[in-house]
Amino acid sequence: MNTTNREKLVLITGVSRGIGRAMFLQMSAMPDVKVIGLARSQDALHALEQECTEAGLSGFFCFQHDVTEQHLPEELMSVLKEAGKLDVLINNAGALVNKPFVDISREEWEQCYLTNVYGPYRLIQLLYPWLKAAGEAHVVNIGSMGGVQGSAKFAGLSAYSSSKMALVGITECLAEEFKGTGVHVNGVNLGAVQTEMLAEAFPGYEAPHHPPEVASWLIDFALHGGRLMNGKSVPLSSTTP
Ligand SMILES: NC(=O)c1ccc[n+]([C@@H]2O[C@H](COP(=O)([O-])OP(=O)(O)OC[C@H]3O[C@@H](n4cnc5c(N)ncnc54)[C@H](OP(=O)(O)O)[C@@H]3O)[C@@H](O)[C@H]2O)c1
Repeated sequence: MNTTNREKLVLITGVSRGIGRAMFLQMSAMPDVKVIGLARSQDALHALEQECTEAGLSGFFCFQHDVTEQHLPEELMSVLKEAGKLDVLINNAGALVNKPFVDISREEWEQCYLTNVYGPYRLIQLLYPWLKAAGEAHVVNIGSMGGVQGSAKFAGLSAYSSSKMALVGITECLAEEFKGTGVHVNGVNLGAVQTEMLAEAFPGYEAPHHPPEVASWLIDFALHGGRLMNGKSVPLSSTTP
């Protein structure tokens, strides 16, 4: 599949379920957008590709990739080389540990930080040349309201919330470091959204919002919000806990 320079090339991590999947589905139906989705679950990626194909869509690529890996898959490199740029990167993949702080193992702590902090760091680092080549590019880091200084905290989420705080820090630092390159870096700190992650962490809790409505807001922000903002992490939440 060819990409033309007029088209925006967007990469989203964590598209096998939840908010990432909803963003991928909506973006693959947009004219003048080509979307690349990454996740680890091959079966879920196949199902997603099938759903898009059955809907008559063609502006998409799905590649299996673990964001904690050091290198990008070859197929992704080929798409980037052909397009010569990347317009938008949405660091959406996330991992949540819900456990009392004193019981969290080193492996659990590391997996959370590897996914939520190392993943975005490494992807931005590897994709920076392509983002810069776009002339104007937008990196969107998906954070959490729990990862905001002074917000309400939940017992059991120390690894998760502190990792999302680190992401807010990375967002601010990179906006400064990339100044003048055309690459803007912003974050969105989400309130509760009814996804598998939320259901696994808080069984029985009903979030006020669902992935499709959150996805449309995020897409609009990712495609158009970058021009007016840099280094900001904005809350996307209808409640103030
Ligand atoms: N839902 C909420 O209430 C809420 C609130 C605040 C913030 N957020 C944030 O919003 C984002 C999306 O959350 P969600 O609720 O949609 O979560 P989700 O349902 O658990 O989906 C997470 C996605 O990330 C992918 N992923 C996890 N680890 C990965 C890895 N190492 N490499 C590649 N992909 C990986 C998963 O796919 P695979 O397992 O197939 O890799 C999955 O597609 C996350 O960053 C989350 O922290 C969510």
